[in-house]
Amino acid sequence: MLYAGLPTLAFKRFLNTSTKPPSNLQQYVESMTSCASTFPQALIESLEAETRKQFEDAFKMVSIHQAHLIYNLTRMIRPQNVLEIGTFTGMSTLSIAAGTDGNILSIDRDAKPINIARMWLEQAKVADRVIIEEGIALDIIKKLPTGAFAPKFDLVFIDADKGNYINYFNQIMSRSLLSDRGIILVDNVLFRGLVPNAMENNFDPKDKNLIRTARKLHAFNQHVKDDPRVEQIILPLFDGLSIIQRKPKLSCVLPQG
Ligand SMILES: C[S@@+](CC[C@H](N)C(=O)[O-])C[C@H]1O[C@@H](n2cnc3c(N)ncnc32)[C@H](O)[C@@H]1O
Repeated sequence: MLYAGLPTLAFKRFLNTSTKPPSNLQQYVESMTSCASTFPQALIESLEAETRKQFEDAFKMVSIHQAHLIYNLTRMIRPQNVLEIGTFTGMSTLSIAAGTDGNILSIDRDAKPINIARMWLEQAKVADRVIIEEGIALDIIKKLPTGAFAPKFDLVFIDADKGNYINYFNQIMSRSLLSDRGIILVDNVLFRGLVPNAMENNFDPKDKNLIRTARKLHAFNQHVKDDPRVEQIILPLFDGLSIIQRKPKLSCVLPQG
């Protein structure tokens, strides 16, 4: 999801200089983004409009530009199996489905946005490849089959309740749900730009709940950084997007000296 308050965070190059990003930067990058032939731009736009019409918390959905990025990353990863945690009305689900001919399992506990997602996936003619499970994500993930013959996920997109991000990550890793080449994308890891200073105590009491969420995300970022099995890179784009993957096999590691 995109927060308008983040433009300076979004472009690290500008953070390292005294240059302010131009005010039309967002407009420029959107207008220069290619109209990809398999990205369902019209459907994504109509889904965004419908979500805004029906949901007061429409801000939860990823922006059209972020949907475009998710579509592009999916095309690069070429996943055969995808796990999405947090469907909402399906902006990211539809973008992922457009970027692969693989199968998607998406989870959300809320029936109303799921119904919208299903309608748009039908219109996009990808509904036969997408299962949306309605329920508590952690319970569903704990019941996913494991073992030598169970399908593993090449792409996982985590975009749900921030307090469970560590639990989602732990389940995925400890139950070997991620394929060797699998990528975990995690949204909101900089949460309104509050995460870097979340552990300070001089915040405005009215921001208490926001700071609590920011602290959970800081704990998640630290948890992943400390995990010797994986590497993460945080992109200061949108609300902060992490890319996590397994460490490469030792034979691929270049000398550090
Ligand atoms: C930020 S929205 C997802 C946005 C979506 N990825 C998109 O592109 O529009 C988060 C969603 O996670 C769902 N959610 C939150 N906690 C959950 C849980 N414990 N189990 C299942 N779904 C959950 C919410 O109902 C909400 O629809």
